[in-house]
Amino acid sequence: MSTPHIDAAPDSIADTVLLPGDPLRARHIARAFLDDAIQVTARRNMLGFTGIHRGRRISIMGSGMGIASTAIYATELIRAYGVRRLIRVGTCGGIGDASLGEVLLAQSASTDSRFNRLAFGDLDLAACADFGLLESAVTTAARLGIATRVSAVFSTDTFYDESAGRIELLRRHGIRGVEMEAAGLYGLAMREGVQALAILTVSDHLEHDTHLSPDEREQGLGCMAQLALESALAVVD
Ligand code: HPA
Repeated sequence: MSTPHIDAAPDSIADTVLLPGDPLRARHIARAFLDDAIQVTARRNMLGFTGIHRGRRISIMGSGMGIASTAIYATELIRAYGVRRLIRVGTCGGIGDASLGEVLLAQSASTDSRFNRLAFGDLDLAACADFGLLESAVTTAARLGIATRVSAVFSTDTFYDESAGRIELLRRHGIRGVEMEAAGLYGLAMREGVQALAILTVSDHLEHDTHLSPDEREQGLGCMAQLALESALAVVD
């Protein structure tokens, strides 16, 4: 069995999948955190891996950028491969009191995308993280000594957004991070009855024009991967 976008063999993908945007980051996390990792899919170079983390089978696969790409992979993972838990590990632009390098656990994701409206009768869906997974990430982060904040984020379809006053508007609504995937992933997970969470490192501050160095990004990725893996294990224990 394969799908239009995933050429993995049946049963070669675990029920929990970490989703970094970049397929090379998927490979990096798999090499660093999984034992006996094997590459299970490479269609369009969107690499996916399955291996063992502390005795449990886990997969890690790139999602690409944006809701459109992420939703294609997530839909096929859920429907064709039986994935029940999707954890995005990525970066976001910070707003207001978000500090560079901090890790946000995205409780809700507002959006300018019509993706959820298309599936929800043109109504506004409150796209939110799975509570069990979010709770597990909060307690796991505390146990590991990783500082996190549960926060509202905004998923945009336009990285190069030029709408006047947009950041101010988001800040006034308590939104601390801007990224491009969580709202679609959450809406899809809600419809499909599976668990989803986005763990995001603030890589750039959109109001201060400050940016993490490549080394700091790498550290952030390791931290998020560890938190995602341990949170997933804790939630199924
Ligand atoms: N906008 C959208 N997505 C992002 C950003 C941003 O500023 N930073 C990291 N992902």
